[in-house]
Amino acid sequence: MKTILKPLTLLVALFIVSCGGDKKTDKFGNPVSDEKENVEAVKPEVSEFPLAEKGKEIFEGKGTCATCHKLDIKLVGPSIQDIAEIYKEKNANMITFLKGEGKPIVDPTQYEVMKANFALTKTFSDEELESLEQYIYSQEK
Ligand code: HEC
Repeated sequence: MKTILKPLTLLVALFIVSCGGDKKTDKFGNPVSDEKENVEAVKPEVSEFPLAEKGKEIFEGKGTCATCHKLDIKLVGPSIQDIAEIYKEKNANMITFLKGEGKPIVDPTQYEVMKANFALTKTFSDEELESLEQYIYSQEK
């Protein structure tokens, strides 16, 4: 009995040693590190809408867009999701529209209400307008 047990215990002990320690592995047995650089490396490279976060700030902040536009319900203006969908579908240029140089394609009957905002949006830089556009597109359903 003893002669069988001894190598077995050794084997078990070896097993514990080799699997012990802090090293984590994923489900495929590859070592996983807790280090930050490594976590960053697995993330998708560049977001499709790098300016969306900035756009959200403008939309809810100095742009005051959020007073009339909500995410998924029509308030004074069409929902952000509806605008994104229609602009994408028609491959329309939101920046041109916000500069007051385009035509309304979402709800032309209410254009006058939106038009009043061009006084403000015309003061925005191209990057700010692009941020607004990216934010709206990033919210598409
Ligand atoms: C006072 C309310 C109000 C505010 C504030 C407002 N909008 Fe609008 N918006 C509307 C209304 C009403 C419409 C529907 C008329 C239209 O389609 O032009 C509209 C339409 C739009 C459209 C679709 C235009 C199209 O082609 O028909 C976009 C894009 C848009 N708004 C973006 C914005 C952005 C960006 C801001 C902030 C800078 C903003 N809106 C602020 C009321 C508002």
